[in-house]
Amino acid sequence: MARILVAGCGYVGTACAVQLLADGHTVFGLRRHPEGLPDGVHPVAADLCNPESLRTALAEVEHGGIDAVVYAAAADGRDEESYRRIYVDGLGHVSEWAQAQGMRPPHLLFTSSTAVYAQTDGSWVDESSPTEPTQFNGACMLEAEGLLADRRGNATVLRLGGIYGPGRTRLIETVRAGRASIQPGPPRWTNRIHRDDAAGALRHLVSRVLAGSTLDPVYIGVDEEPADEAEVLRWLAGTLGVDRPSVVSGPAPPTGREGRRSSNKRCSSRRLRASGYAFRYPTYREGYAALIDVTRKS
Ligand SMILES: NC(=O)c1ccc[n+]([C@@H]2O[C@H](COP(=O)([O-])OP(=O)(O)OC[C@H]3O[C@@H](n4cnc5c(N)ncnc54)[C@H](OP(=O)(O)O)[C@@H]3O)[C@@H](O)[C@H]2O)c1
Repeated sequence: MARILVAGCGYVGTACAVQLLADGHTVFGLRRHPEGLPDGVHPVAADLCNPESLRTALAEVEHGGIDAVVYAAAADGRDEESYRRIYVDGLGHVSEWAQAQGMRPPHLLFTSSTAVYAQTDGSWVDESSPTEPTQFNGACMLEAEGLLADRRGNATVLRLGGIYGPGRTRLIETVRAGRASIQPGPPRWTNRIHRDDAAGALRHLVSRVLAGSTLDPVYIGVDEEPADEAEVLRWLAGTLGVDRPSVVSGPAPPTGREGRRSSNKRCSSRRLRASGYAFRYPTYREGYAALIDVTRKS
């Protein structure tokens, strides 16, 4: 069994750590405040943006060797400085540390974002599509991906869409409260992934690496069906048994990370599925239905 470090062991990272633990691996969960990580995950307290703190904390971990690193840390704020600090500087520090681990440096997986794609015309996007981000978030992610480019087969990027799941149900609550609205016009495509599938995809990629398979350098991590935002809102209203969102012209309020209004592209996860990953929640319907079930029971 392998020894795996999850750096930035938060919402997705912890779900991934739990899945890797269930596979029998030894898992280290690194974050600044690791108190409260699930039983079995070895807590490592360190600041990814502080190389000294990182080196000290990882000295013990590296003693027994590390086979794979999942870098799933997220920025503290939605500003360029915070993004740069955690995605470019933090990832750079971990990448340097990994490279220094002797003859067989651990494979590094990085949770990037579909924000690296600037397409807003509803077109299909896959791993070979142009990445020309116009906003700082996508630009920082792309710069971070670039740090791994020279690791030749020893690093993998998973570009995640909007993550939803337990505790991240803002869209459901917006519809339930009657605060959602639909803009008239052509479909506006959104791309999501349930937390457990984001974690599951990471686990799948780690397992393939450990089995000796060669991974592609980049995978898109979204579910099987890009969804028209209006369709999602109507489906949620119907499933929740509340009034359908009204159609209003003009700028609409944001509806949460998983359905950003500025986005309009159809991301394909074909490559991830072709690599053998089977989605637990193939579309928003299965994912949101499971969450609505839970909120009804509680
Ligand atoms: N949320 C989305 O819709 C979305 C979409 C696309 C891509 N992604 C990417 O997916 C990944 C996982 O997202 P998530 O929602 O699971 O993230 P999250 O839970 O918000 O954050 C992950 C963890 O990073 C840790 N962290 C932040 N700064 C750190 C630092 N300086 N040193 C050590 N640990 C630090 C935090 O723990 P402490 O505070 O204890 O340090 C936190 O638990 C991220 O890379 C994110 O950018 C997310």
